Amino acid sequence: MSDEYLEEEEFTTQFNGKTFRRILGLTRPHLRWVIGFLIAIAIVSGLDSLFTYISKLIIDDGIIAQNKSELYRLLTIYGSLTLVQAAAVFGFVFLAGVLGERVRYDLRQKMFNHLQQLSLSYFSRTPVGWIMSRVTSDTERVADLVTWGLLDSTWAIMNIVTAMGFMLYINWQMALIVLAALPILFWIAYEFRKRILGEFRNVRKFNSKITGAFNENITGVRVVKALGREDANLKDFSVLTNNMYRTSYRAAWLSALFLPSVQIVSSLALGSIVLYGGLQVQVGTMTVGGIQAFVSYVTFMMWPIQDLARVFAEMQHSIASAERIFSLVDSVPEVKDSPEAYDPGTMQGDVEFEDVTFYYSDGDGKHVLEDFTLKVKRGETIALVGPTGGGKSTIVNLICRFYEPKHGQIKIGGKDYTQYSLYAIQSRIGMVLQTPHLFSGSIRENIRYGRLTATDGEIEEAARMAGAHDFIVKFSKGYEENVGEGGNLLSVGQKQLISLARAVLAKPEIFIMDEATSSVDTLTEALIQRGMETMMAGRTSFVIAHRLSTIKRADRILVIEEGRIAESGTHSELLRKRGKYFQLYTKQFRHQMEQALDPFSDEALQAAQS
Ligand SMILES: Nc1ncnc2c1ncn2[C@@H]1O[C@H](COP(=O)(O)OP(=O)(O)OP(=O)(O)O)[C@@H](O)[C@H]1O
Ligand SMILES: [Mg+2]
Repeated sequence: MSDEYLEEEEFTTQFNGKTFRRILGLTRPHLRWVIGFLIAIAIVSGLDSLFTYISKLIIDDGIIAQNKSELYRLLTIYGSLTLVQAAAVFGFVFLAGVLGERVRYDLRQKMFNHLQQLSLSYFSRTPVGWIMSRVTSDTERVADLVTWGLLDSTWAIMNIVTAMGFMLYINWQMALIVLAALPILFWIAYEFRKRILGEFRNVRKFNSKITGAFNENITGVRVVKALGREDANLKDFSVLTNNMYRTSYRAAWLSALFLPSVQIVSSLALGSIVLYGGLQVQVGTMTVGGIQAFVSYVTFMMWPIQDLARVFAEMQHSIASAERIFSLVDSVPEVKDSPEAYDPGTMQGDVEFEDVTFYYSDGDGKHVLEDFTLKVKRGETIALVGPTGGGKSTIVNLICRFYEPKHGQIKIGGKDYTQYSLYAIQSRIGMVLQTPHLFSGSIRENIRYGRLTATDGEIEEAARMAGAHDFIVKFSKGYEENVGEGGNLLSVGQKQLISLARAVLAKPEIFIMDEATSSVDTLTEALIQRGMETMMAGRTSFVIAHRLSTIKRADRILVIEEGRIAESGTHSELLRKRGKYFQLYTKQFRHQMEQALDPFSDEALQAAQS
């Protein structure tokens, strides 16, 4: 997983109206909240402008006119409206929080659901880091856009509009001067915001690269030292920190320049107003309170304009985030149920491959299996052996219907398995993978994953049958022992035993095992062997086998080479043939075989058969 995935990709998207509407659509299920929240904002910004206007009245009609009763009346109105505004502010902040939480929840729920539906091919193609940033930072950004972004822009627009309204009402010529200055102010604010945002983004990017460099050098410290790479790495690192320094410097520079620039333009606008307004007062068409109100409106308007510019600058990034989220949610699972798919109630029966051709859609297009034909009788145990990359895992992936044949058919119980629902098939197949995965939690919980309704007694029985009970009770907490994240506190052999117990508990009709190649101690190996025998008894089983003991017990051994069955037969048949199997396993199992056969005499062959 490269750290670049954690950072957003370079952002190139132009403003996309369709995505924007789709983002707004996310709030539709919560329309009540949205409306409440918009009303609250409208009240707040309307009152903001009204306050300035009332101040004007207080000055002109109360103070200058020396009208005491009018002054009290206006102050009372002002005071009570302040209370209303306080309530409205509370309302919109609260509602925005609720709305954001709902949208975040909806998005994450949707993604989680969808991720569970996606085919394995999606996950082998898509880096985990990429998916994780969709779920975390992108969701965050989209939720922020529909809440705080919506809040800020509505507030800003309402403020500008109502303030403009009051200004036009007080003196329209002066209002037009302000109106002319608005676009310039907005443009300056927007350009600054965009650049500052860009620089901060670069700072973050360099920062994560620096973290990555630290991480690589710490985890790979032995290799670095062994190869004498210290100086070269230090040079690479200096380039990184230098870039980081320069970018941060630019960001600080821009941030510092931003406010003064905006202030210069607004001061110019204010200056013209005071000048023009002052002349009007002498003529008698403008009051002192009026000028004061204009100055307040223009000064206050700086905030909405800056806010709007910020929301606009950030919006493009949020839309890019949303596009990535939608691309995940819109991706179609490669393997899915046909509309007529059904559950026949059992998957017992023969398993047949008929002229199956398969290649990975995202691979190099090379056929992994070509016209592959295989008939497995119900209850038969098949061992798959062969060189790495031969196609063994592909065969079992197809049986589990993680992938489907590109041509030809796979039949279970005489029918093309695409007629069955995925659930019907997958819930009846028990799998133990080469690198078994455990979920963080206790051993008991992990075994129970095989059948959620199982009682503690059944779990223990399954563990006994799988041969896992003995090592489990040796832990100080027994079945309650925590396995750590991904089962990392256990050895590979122990994880396989727990997965095996999980499979035993599920009582599958078809059993699939990809034996661990990593060496497990002889005791664990014997336990796994015993557990597997329990599983294989009476079940159609496919074992990708690395251990002689498993291979010898199989009803049929298939040597898989370049997607073809190069040889098939029982252990002794194949040994007698002295072909590929013989070659493969004299190399791999010499030490194991030496005890059984020396040097492949007939007595030894007999011993091997027993
Ligand atoms: N998810 C995938 N996407 C693309 N190509 C793949 C994928 N999985 C396997 N392949 C390719 O398919 C071929 C068969 O691989 P497969 O995993 O079935 O071999 P295998 O016999 O199980 O090997 P091993 O003994 O090493 O586990 C290989 O050439 C491999 O590169
Ligand atoms: Mg494999």
